[in-house]
Amino acid sequence: MSASALRLEVAHSVLYVHDVDRMVGFYTDVLGFEVTDRGPIGPNEIVFLSQTANHHHQVAFITGRPAPEKSNNTHHTAYRSAGTLDDLKALLGRLQADEGVSGIMPLTHGNAWSVYFQDPEHNGVEIFIDTPWHVKQPQGKPLDLTKSNEEIIAATQEAFATEPEFGDLRRFYDGRAEHLAARAAD
Ligand SMILES: [Fe+2]
Repeated sequence: MSASALRLEVAHSVLYVHDVDRMVGFYTDVLGFEVTDRGPIGPNEIVFLSQTANHHHQVAFITGRPAPEKSNNTHHTAYRSAGTLDDLKALLGRLQADEGVSGIMPLTHGNAWSVYFQDPEHNGVEIFIDTPWHVKQPQGKPLDLTKSNEEIIAATQEAFATEPEFGDLRRFYDGRAEHLAARAAD
């Protein structure tokens, strides 16, 4: 089997945690995950969480994180949603209401509307929805989620329209699919 036939998709992150109840509470109540399984691993406990039909878990927590330090080896873990700008605004409100959350930063990469933040144990998290556009990365401009959806859409289009490769997102992913099909046929 060639390397190109072994398609990989990101499936889950497993994080060491100090306070598993606090972290499970945050990821379920604020971010919408469900606990799919939990049990012992040696002296520690593992809790699995998912909110998709095709992943047993997307994130899991293992107790026994050794030192009370900020995470520093992972910049952030991103979760994509098929939701709307209204959903993203509602999420922002829930994050702002949770005193354990820090570093809340709405941002647009042109191809995504994102909210970045640090969870209650300072792990970097990004939650994003697609915009209708592709644009060459990296990009990052402020996202004002207090504006109306129409204003956000217009402002994003205007902000990135002159950037390289700006165009229809569907066309970009169709191109990726063609590229991968050609690669698999090699
Ligand atoms: Fe990201």
